[in-house]
This record gives sequence, structure tokens and C-alpha cells, in this order.
Amino acid sequence: MKKRKIIIYGGSFDPPHKGHFKLLRAAIKEIKPDKVYVVAGWRSPFKNFPFASYRDREKMFRMGAREFKLRGAARLVFHPFEYKRKKTTYTYQIIDYFSLKHPRAQLFFLMGSDCLNSFNKWKKHKLIIKKAVLLVGKREGFLPEIGLSPPVVFLKDVFPKISSTEIKRDLFIEGFSKNVSASVLRHMEQKKLYLSHMRKWLKLNLNPERFKHCKETMRLALDLAAKHGIDAEKAATAALLHDAARDFGEKKLKVWASKNKEKIPFFQSIMKNEPLLFHSHMSADMARNKFFVKDKDILSAIRYHTVGAAQMSVLGKIIYISDMAGKDRDAIFPSAVSKKSNARGYAAAIRKKAFLNIDKAFFFALKCKMEYMIKEKKWMHPRSYIIYQTLFKKTHE
Ligand SMILES: [Fe+2]
Ligand SMILES: [Fe+2]
Repeated sequence: MKKRKIIIYGGSFDPPHKGHFKLLRAAIKEIKPDKVYVVAGWRSPFKNFPFASYRDREKMFRMGAREFKLRGAARLVFHPFEYKRKKTTYTYQIIDYFSLKHPRAQLFFLMGSDCLNSFNKWKKHKLIIKKAVLLVGKREGFLPEIGLSPPVVFLKDVFPKISSTEIKRDLFIEGFSKNVSASVLRHMEQKKLYLSHMRKWLKLNLNPERFKHCKETMRLALDLAAKHGIDAEKAATAALLHDAARDFGEKKLKVWASKNKEKIPFFQSIMKNEPLLFHSHMSADMARNKFFVKDKDILSAIRYHTVGAAQMSVLGKIIYISDMAGKDRDAIFPSAVSKKSNARGYAAAIRKKAFLNIDKAFFFALKCKMEYMIKEKKWMHPRSYIIYQTLFKKTHE
């Protein structure tokens, strides 16, 4: 009797994108399976931080699959095996489960060739190839090495390498990715995923220059987050919302601050000297109450992006720096305020430092801001002086 063929396709699918569907479509065409199991990865939920839930990822996968006409080609089953376990699951456990479920079927585990070179390091990888055939799509830039030991079936086509990280970056900054299907994009908007609702509100309510500034702040924040091991969604949320209240005008900011003065250190001084500074507190308040951001790290990064804080997290420093030194600041502050920045403008100098050492870059940014304020005869928040002095002492001890 001919063996039933089953394809197992695992991944985080966060979000499902065209690369996934192209690979699966080719696999279905060549293998002609009786069944396809799509196993979406369980993702450890961040404390109080929303992300695309398992159900949303399933829904988006089904929508994309329909758009790519995958449904009729084989029986596509979105299997909750990993989701139900609620913990990190290794591929060998998935294969083990399905081989017990279908003892007489031939199992194919679908993957891209970018994962193949490290396959021998996967946990219990020998068990995987004992029970399943690796079905591999060749990816540009990751063509297979000769002399591989596992039994591998290569699909005929070469598939473009599409990275979920890049897609999320495009979604956060531009609200769009050419690698995401139209129906999936629509679902993201409807369900307020990947920060789409925040972007939409800001685009409508901030002036165009400010919105551009938020995007540039986010662009730098995402690069720095990747460099310093900070979660991209957290960095993007803080950067996107940091100036949410910035365009409300002095009158509205003053009214809001007067109602919330117990939450604002140096309230009287700010009221007297620079009421626009209230915007960072009001933006944090909006993040919490309007957009339901509960993550304390994100909220304090927004709250202290103007003045700084005594104890600042890496995310806080990233947002402080990205606000000051995004590409949009090159034109605003073209002249160097520090001799060390070699007349390239301080934004570029801070950017460069931030990729090397975030603490030193924060200190340098604080110093640049102080020099600028003195030069422009602007009022400086007392807390910035205190932080600067503390950091100065630390670095000169
Ligand atoms: Fe701001
Ligand atoms: Fe800003």
C-alpha cells in the first residue's frame, strides 16, 4: 500500500509572510501530500506586553494561504501542538508526536536551507531524520553545502530570503511590507497588531514633520535595540509614542499637568520655565491609558526621554538617544557643539557612539544637550544637571 505523505511546517509565523506561502506552495506542488500540518511556535508572553497571539497568527496564516490558493491543494491543518504545551518545543518533539499519530505515513519536515547548515546542532537531530525526511527550500545566499549527512529532498526552486525581523521593521516604521499579503495586512489593522493603531492615530494627530521625527526616532531605536539585545517591539512602541502629546500646545499641556502634578517631579519649575516639557509625561500617560501599554520599561522610557532619569534602563537610554540623534536631527542641528564631534553635527557623533557603548553615548548626548541649551540660553531641567554631575563623577573616579 502506498504510504500517505504528510508535510509538517513549523515556525513562529510572526507574522506569516509571502516567503512562507511560496515555500509551502512549492512543497505541496512537488510532494502532493495528503495532509499538511502547520505548527506555529509558542511564544513566551512578555510581561504585560501585547503581541500577535497564537489565534491571530493562525488566522493570518489561513488568510495568506487562501490568497496563495493553498487550501484546495492539500488538507491544511493548523495544529496547536506547541501552543498547547505552552513552552519552548524542539523540532524532534514535534516530529515524535506526529510520527506516533501517523505511524504508517511518510513525514516531511519543511524548512529553508538557511537552517540546514546548523541542523547537526539541533537537539536530538538524529531522531528527526530517523522519523522524517527534511524537505528543504534553497534560499538565496544559503545554498547547501556539499556532503550533507541527513536525508534531504531539495525543492526545485530557489526562494528569496525574507526575514520576519525586516518585515516587522517595515510594519512598525511604514505600516506596510511588500512581503505581507493584502488580507494579512487588513487583519493586522483590524486587530491592531504590530502597532498599526498607534501609527494610525499619530499620523492623524501629529503634524507631518513630527510624525516623520517619530519614524526616524524609531528607525534608530530599532537599530540600537538590535545591537544591544533589546526587544524590537518594546523599542518600536516607546519610540513611536514618545512624542504622542508633543503637538497639543502649551495650554493643553499645562491643563493636563495641573491635574497630574503629583506625578511630575519639579512641576512648579517646569510650569514656570518650560511647560512644553510636560509632553513627555503626558505621552507616557497616553501610552498607558489610550493605547493600553502596561510595560513599565516602555512607559518610563517615554516619560524620561526629554530630561533623563537617575536610573535609566538600556531601553530608556536608547529612546533618549534616538530622539536626539535620529537622521532627521542632522538638518536641525547641523553644527557641532562639541569639538570632539569634528564638526559633523552632534546627531551623527551620538549615533556613532551609541553603537559602540550605550552608556558612554548617553553621557555624551546629555553633555551635548547641555552645551546646546547653554549656547541657546535655554532653561535646563535641574534633573539633567544632577544626572550629568553623577555620571561625570562616575567616569572621573
Ligand atoms: Fe519629545
Ligand atoms: Fe522627540
